[in-house]
Amino acid sequence: MYNPFSIEGKTVLVTGASSGIGRCVAVECSKMGAKLVLTGRDETRLNETLSMLEGPNHTAIVADLADKESLNAMVSQLPVLDGVSHNAGISKINMIKFIKEEELLEIMQTNAFSTVLLTKQLVAKKKLNKPSSLVFTSSVSGNDCVRHGESLYAASKGSISGFAKAAALDLAAQGVRVNCVNPGMVMTELFKSAQDASMEDLGELKKLFPMKRFGNPEDVAHGVIYLLSEASSWVTGAELKIDGGYTLM
Ligand SMILES: NC(=O)c1ccc[n+]([C@@H]2O[C@H](COP(=O)([O-])OP(=O)(O)OC[C@H]3O[C@@H](n4cnc5c(N)ncnc54)[C@H](OP(=O)(O)O)[C@@H]3O)[C@@H](O)[C@H]2O)c1
Repeated sequence: MYNPFSIEGKTVLVTGASSGIGRCVAVECSKMGAKLVLTGRDETRLNETLSMLEGPNHTAIVADLADKESLNAMVSQLPVLDGVSHNAGISKINMIKFIKEEELLEIMQTNAFSTVLLTKQLVAKKKLNKPSSLVFTSSVSGNDCVRHGESLYAASKGSISGFAKAAALDLAAQGVRVNCVNPGMVMTELFKSAQDASMEDLGELKKLFPMKRFGNPEDVAHGVIYLLSEASSWVTGAELKIDGGYTLM
């Protein structure tokens, strides 16, 4: 069947695969015939994801991407890849005057530095096929909008999106495309932990979405699959906003 969106037979690394959006990307990619390499910190939840995948020959590597040695060791174990969906990330909410340097370092190491160092290692260790596609899960926060208390998170996500554009330019000649998906609020553990609101308040928040719902992980996963597929072969350095129209208001 004609399908320019196919990712069948592609080898794809999924970070943050032990939970939320990353887990969903992995499951959806497996349903479309990709071969997955999963990574995350929590071995039990990572293996849970592995057991949810369709098809044979998927693998999992436990790694802490905020730790340079652990990241490097993970990359060394990888096969040559056709695609990467990089979702590992954390969130923090605090007002500017309460920001602690340790928190700044933690969020930048996890969200921003991991993106740069992962890309660098993949290129240096020749782990990317020609062509291949890197898809970073950034956010509307720091790129399209911000909410009170999100300064650290917004700084880390704005940094990912800036890096993606520069990497897209630098790596184009090597056949490597680099793009971001910018999700709005998606129902995952990270989203729940970032809210200090009751379910009633969340109901109010939902009304700010023109489509009257928060995102599902699948909404993001399907955007990632488009960017991994040859259907997006002329798309690089782009940000795909997936937010149910939240930032239109
Ligand atoms: N949910 C939203 O509303 C939303 C909106 C915009 C953007 N995003 C972005 O989407 C991505 C996924 O978030 P999510 O909502 O799916 O959150 P989640 O369910 O909390 O998943 C976060 C994932 O990141 C991994 N991770 C965190 N720190 C790590 C580290 N140091 N090394 C390796 N892996 C690490 C976690 O692994 P372990 O659990 O194994 O530690 C987990 O698999 C994040 O980058 C987030 O910023 C989410």
